[in-house]
Amino acid sequence: MKAIVVTDQAAGTTGMKLVERPEPQAAINDVVVQVHASGFVPTELTWPSTWADRRDCDRTPVIPGHELAGVVTALGYGTTGLSVGQRVFGLADWYRDGTLAEYIAMEARNLAPLPGDVDFTVAASLPISGLTAWQGLFQHGRLQAGQSVLAHGAAGAVGSMVTQLAREAGAYVIGTGRAADRQKALDFGANEFVDLDKDALEDVGGIDLVFDVIGGDIQKRSVALIRAGGTLVTVVGPAEARPADGLAVDFVVESDRAQLSEIVQRVRDGRVRTNIGKVSALEGAVATFNATERRAGKTVIRVRP
Ligand SMILES: NC(=O)c1ccc[n+]([C@@H]2O[C@H](COP(=O)([O-])OP(=O)(O)OC[C@H]3O[C@@H](n4cnc5c(N)ncnc54)[C@H](OP(=O)(O)O)[C@@H]3O)[C@@H](O)[C@H]2O)c1
Repeated sequence: MKAIVVTDQAAGTTGMKLVERPEPQAAINDVVVQVHASGFVPTELTWPSTWADRRDCDRTPVIPGHELAGVVTALGYGTTGLSVGQRVFGLADWYRDGTLAEYIAMEARNLAPLPGDVDFTVAASLPISGLTAWQGLFQHGRLQAGQSVLAHGAAGAVGSMVTQLAREAGAYVIGTGRAADRQKALDFGANEFVDLDKDALEDVGGIDLVFDVIGGDIQKRSVALIRAGGTLVTVVGPAEARPADGLAVDFVVESDRAQLSEIVQRVRDGRVRTNIGKVSALEGAVATFNATERRAGKTVIRVRP
């Protein structure tokens, strides 16, 4: 099969190559999926799980990519819940070969059925950003209607999902980002927008929940804006500060079939809009990942035309 591999961490996306690889086999509780579309988060080339297995042994050459939509072509020993020919989408294991390939073997529990009226490209854009927003807001952040959310990077892949899901849940959302992202963040439903380069973040206060996708100084300044007893949720590493009497949670997104189904249902009925940037064929993927212009939204690789 055709697959993109990386072998050299220092080279980042410039070290990616389109090569021939053997088709994967389904292990216990796995399925093999023919990948139709794959999402890609560029930061994954900096994650330890991209380069080493759970015992910290080198696993290069590695096929990156963790989000996919496709069709099940084989079941492993003992696999239940999905069938051959079924349309699926989901989030693949961080430590196994990934989705930038024509086929992937992965655990069935990390996939959800994909309704026939949802395009593979749309479905491949949802798992990481949708699940991250869902888990950060509702599981870790315990968001309630009427609360306020500071959604950093609100025009980005995760932030646009945070903004939409928080608004739907009855929260007041203050989005942040670059000046050029103001209208996009407002279009995704932010009630207000703070330009992090020009506006005073400190004008905002009494926040119930900060959803951080940036970290560093922005995270530290944001914690000071949280009301006593409020929550910081961050997805960019250990929290560096904690709100007074409150909670600071950093987490890594997990696949969840029920949550994937909730998210895709919202896309079907128009409550949630996906945020897709560039779309490319597998043959053009390396050039797309290495393009110099600013990325806006999720990059999706259409593996099967
Ligand atoms: N822990 C987890 O489970 C998890 C899950 C998903 C994502 N993540 C991480 O979350 C981060 C965001 O992911 P994403 O896919 O949403 O990325 P994205 O689509 O690039 O969105 C991030 C947004 O934040 C903006 N931004 C970043 N730094 C900024 C700054 N200093 N000032 C103003 N705006 C800023 C970006 O603008 P520019 O592009 O102009 O910088 C972009 O619009 C990544 O680091 C990713 O690895 C973690």
